[in-house]
Amino acid sequence: MTNFAPTFLNTPNSNILTTGNGNPVDDNQNTLTAGEFGPVLLQDFHLIDKLAHFDRERIPERVVHAKGAGAHGYFELTKDIKDLTSAHFLQTVGTKTPIFARFSTVGGEKGSSDSARDPRGFAVKFYTEEGNWDMVGNNTPIFFIRDPLKFPDFIHTQKRNPQTNLKDADAFWDFISLSHETLHQVTILFSNRGTPYSFRHMDGFSSHTLKLVNAEGRVHFVKWHFKTDQGIKNHRREEAAALDSSNPDSSTQDLFEAIAKGDHPSWTVSLQIMPEEQAAHYDWNIFDVTKVWPHKDYPLVKIGKMVLNRNPNNYFAEVEQAAFSPSHMVPGIDVSNDKMLQGRLFSYPDTHRHRLGANYLQLPINQPYRAKVSHHQRDGPANYSQNYNGYPNYEPQSQDPKGPEQQINSVRFKYSPSNLAGKTGRYPYNTKDVDYIQAGNLYRLMKGPEQDDLIENLVHHIKNVQNPVIAKRAIDLFSKADPEYGQRIESGLKALKK
Ligand code: HEM
Repeated sequence: MTNFAPTFLNTPNSNILTTGNGNPVDDNQNTLTAGEFGPVLLQDFHLIDKLAHFDRERIPERVVHAKGAGAHGYFELTKDIKDLTSAHFLQTVGTKTPIFARFSTVGGEKGSSDSARDPRGFAVKFYTEEGNWDMVGNNTPIFFIRDPLKFPDFIHTQKRNPQTNLKDADAFWDFISLSHETLHQVTILFSNRGTPYSFRHMDGFSSHTLKLVNAEGRVHFVKWHFKTDQGIKNHRREEAAALDSSNPDSSTQDLFEAIAKGDHPSWTVSLQIMPEEQAAHYDWNIFDVTKVWPHKDYPLVKIGKMVLNRNPNNYFAEVEQAAFSPSHMVPGIDVSNDKMLQGRLFSYPDTHRHRLGANYLQLPINQPYRAKVSHHQRDGPANYSQNYNGYPNYEPQSQDPKGPEQQINSVRFKYSPSNLAGKTGRYPYNTKDVDYIQAGNLYRLMKGPEQDDLIENLVHHIKNVQNPVIAKRAIDLFSKADPEYGQRIESGLKALKK
């Protein structure tokens, strides 16, 4: 008896057309009927097999970040950071780790425009020898909100009105103007950085504070930065709007064509590094994802290069089925107490089980193929592995042969402990007036045409708000960052009305 050997459908196995069941097909043009002009026969397995599979071709699109493009490549370590982390792939200069990256817009559906005003997702799967590490970030160093309870509500305001099925400027500005922590990210979003020229011409950020943990268990807090080597390039409002209709897939096309012709995009990877003991005394709450760490306090330290050099062979298999999660961690990299990040640790694998099924990690693009995967998970829908044959599916156990065992004495594999104080509770961030400072600094940092475009982009969005109370509240919010900021938006709206 031969061993069961699954076939990965990379190429057709022969030039004989078969059914899904492997039975040769005689005729792929004419349905089996009762007589020349009679009804179709139920016994036409080929027809039913073909239609039934077609009926199931779509899986749920991602609830956010549905439109995206991806590519394969590698990450190369260029600096020794052994003192910071025990992660295997970050030990030796020159180590190359295979990666898969996916870039996306956030709010639109799978067929929506690449040039929409939106943050861009920046997700990278590192296939390391100790399992996969997913860096699931954005092209912005911060985010709109900082509590995971607010995420579904926030996203509802970015999607369609439940009655009209139209984008709803009132809902958008209602939520924003009542959630002042959004001001900083909204200032980035309505600058021209909200409409990047392409996925190749934007930076990426972990946005959250993560931990690096070294072999002795010492912790540094870090933020990851991926700086584009192609240079930042953005569209102005009219250019982005024109592309919406002339080529809604411009960024997807740009990435694919650049890689196809050997123009491989790259990013310089850097860290902002904070020793654990400095966190409590820093000016900014480092677990508040609406704030940056100014570079003058924590400068960028270059540690590597990310290069994308291979297009997917099949979009569905490699891009649509890719499942990134901030909870896919490796020893030496750990999570922080950032509440948003903690909420995300649950949300992603949960949505993957819904979108792709309980065995989503068996899909080739998601497999931690460089690690030796051994566990006690079994069965489930679409389990196409050999399911660990007869090996024990429980622990503790004393069978022969033995199944995999926990590594209780390993310091490296332990979760890194966090300092805690106080009582359990639903605590708001203590941020009286703090939310306006970095937004105001960013507004003042933008000069001349850059600032003019920011105002114009905002005016052309707020003009769609029907409810004057909401519009007024939105203007007031910008005035809190800088009185001139709000005043210029107000004047712009008045001028547009005239
Ligand atoms: C995708 C939830 C915040 C970056 C997703 C998906 C969900 C989700 C359910 C779809 C995943 C899939 O179907 O595979 C959340 C929740 C958040 C949150 C609950 C807050 C509590 C953030 C933040 C960032 C981010 C702060 C960036 C710093 C991304 C990216 C993707 C994504 C890049 C697309 C990944 C891909 O390319 O497949 N998010 N998200 N999200 N999210 Fe979040």
